[in-house]
Amino acid sequence: MSVTIIIGSQWGDEGKGKIVDLLSADVDVVARYQGGANAGHTIAWGDTEVVLHLVPSGIFNKDVTCVIGNGVVIDPVAVLEEIKTIRSLGYEVEGRLLMSHNAHLIMPYHKKIEEARERARDAGAIGTTGRGIGPAYTDKYARTGIRLVDLLDRDVLRKKLKESIDEKNAILSSIYGAEKLDVEAMIDEYVEFDKLIDPYVTDTSAYLNNALKAGKRVLAEGAQGSLLDIDFGTYPFVTSSHPTAGGACTGLGIPPTRVDRVVGIVKAYSTRVGNGPFPTELDDADGETLRKVGHEFGATTGRPRRCGWLDLMALNYTSMINGFTDLAITKLDVMTGMPVVKACVGYELDGKRLDRFPNDITTLEKVVPIYESFDGWTEDPREARAFEDLPSAARKYLTFVSNFMEVPICIVSTGPKRDQTLSSMGTPMVA
Ligand code: IMP
Repeated sequence: MSVTIIIGSQWGDEGKGKIVDLLSADVDVVARYQGGANAGHTIAWGDTEVVLHLVPSGIFNKDVTCVIGNGVVIDPVAVLEEIKTIRSLGYEVEGRLLMSHNAHLIMPYHKKIEEARERARDAGAIGTTGRGIGPAYTDKYARTGIRLVDLLDRDVLRKKLKESIDEKNAILSSIYGAEKLDVEAMIDEYVEFDKLIDPYVTDTSAYLNNALKAGKRVLAEGAQGSLLDIDFGTYPFVTSSHPTAGGACTGLGIPPTRVDRVVGIVKAYSTRVGNGPFPTELDDADGETLRKVGHEFGATTGRPRRCGWLDLMALNYTSMINGFTDLAITKLDVMTGMPVVKACVGYELDGKRLDRFPNDITTLEKVVPIYESFDGWTEDPREARAFEDLPSAARKYLTFVSNFMEVPICIVSTGPKRDQTLSSMGTPMVA
């Protein structure tokens, strides 16, 4: 096996961190390919729980090298803070963490512009995480961004920063009436960051391709979810990168021919944080139960997540875009005790049944979900050690999901801990 990609199949927060941590036991390299510190990947073992925003979730496996690829936008403050936390837990980072010299930097003005833009949008706000992601990718594609490699040469850095800040100051003060930024103070600050980040910076695409040539196994860790993809998500209520499978190749500089497994992470129900259409959203006691029992509050922002039933129309769409080879179902335990469990198997629009997921938001906002109902279960699935140990009603629900999506299930997570996981090492437990 060469490259396995881990993808969030919904709107993010599917529990990818735990699955990456689990699968990293069998790989040599774990690489993040898009997004930035907007992600919040939670990993728990013993009494320890850590939330990573930028460093790949494989860092707690000592034999694994972690890569932050060219497709990621790096906030130096956030990454240095995370390195400190990882070290404090007894894990060495230098020599095990590599950052692409082509990755773009999040600058303080990106956060300021995002904040001002969201405020100006008012009721139409996207509900971003406030980490400067959109404006940083805007600069990347406008070809005015600052990359890690630019930190190496003070003159280049000064010139680029000056040009960028002059433009940003004009935007901040004239369009948004916000305060101007100080160029010199920012240069001093980023020169300091450079000293600390320098040991980690390299050509990660060359590193990854050499590793693959040497027979090493790479896990590409997606952040956010497919329905937040800039092209395939519910635009404009999306993030500014490609969390989908194609993003792994461009975000790491590895060829698609190296990819042999694409694992779709599917939470047993749906959640969404931020604004935008969500056909199966529940505004009732069931939604409240999922939020409370599932601790559905943002790992990055602390915002309560919107909760709803599983949406198989949306999942068949993201499975088509990503080509899932198998599924990892997460947070099954959260639904324990619900008398009835539902999954959306179709949409109706103006009395007509739709045959596919419409990703334009005007249509999606109007669709009426059609549900299939299942008996709930009361037995605790967290103690199960094999698929057969799960409550029979839970097995029925999962078998239906797998059949509907025509994708086998190879992993079921039944609780937050490492040992609360049923894994068949890539062989279908439900096919
Ligand atoms: P941004 O990525 O901060 O620009 O936010 C754009 C949209 O993506 C907002 O709706 C966010 O709530 C959502 N989003 C960004 N990162 C995550 C994540 O890691 N999990 C879930 N939603 C996210």
